[in-house]
Amino acid sequence: MKFFIDTANLDQIREAQALGVLDGVTTNPSLMAKEGITGKNNILKHYVDICTIVEGDVSAEVVSTDFEGMVKEGEELVELHDQIVVKVPMIKDGVKALKYFSDKGIRTNCTLVFSVGQALLAAKAGATYVSPFIGRLDDISTDGLNLIAEIRHIYDNYAFDTQILAASVRHTMHIVDCAKLGADVITGPLSAIEGLLKHPLTDIGLAKFLADYQKGNK
Ligand code: E4P
Repeated sequence: MKFFIDTANLDQIREAQALGVLDGVTTNPSLMAKEGITGKNNILKHYVDICTIVEGDVSAEVVSTDFEGMVKEGEELVELHDQIVVKVPMIKDGVKALKYFSDKGIRTNCTLVFSVGQALLAAKAGATYVSPFIGRLDDISTDGLNLIAEIRHIYDNYAFDTQILAASVRHTMHIVDCAKLGADVITGPLSAIEGLLKHPLTDIGLAKFLADYQKGNK
């Protein structure tokens, strides 16, 4: 299972990279704006900066909504760095763009996926990754994790190569549940990834070990 971090914050990306378990980064226009990265040139430079920190895939999202615009943007994005994966929204022209990029050997991440039908279409169009947004489904009282299970089932039925990238992960248990369901990748905040290492019995156990060591080695 791959771990991606879902942020455009370079410090957090560095911290996750330093942990040694990071496989990539996902960004989106909102995450870029949150870091104050605006203007095309600054945004493109920021993608390159991210690629120099991590060794894995870096999803860079197009902002056009028509086929020609997405193709132009995507081709520009992949020229930036060989780690770039073009993030394309699940809309009609987006599906056409996924197919176009797939035929040209350009890797893609189909974003804003909320149903099994959308995921099926993304796989048919040759997307490298499909991003079901589980947290946003949970937000509207729908079972986000069930979507992961259903997509896994359908992709396995037909041996689709498209990797399930569970997105909009909000907390540590989302990661654990996605692992149980067989998601290929999760993308989430640093706090969710670091949450995996925490357990109160670990802290209590370590404190006891160290106290006993101190007693015997005064
Ligand atoms: C996916 O690639 C998106 O960037 C992301 O996971 C959205 O998550 P959010 O619902 O927390 O904004």
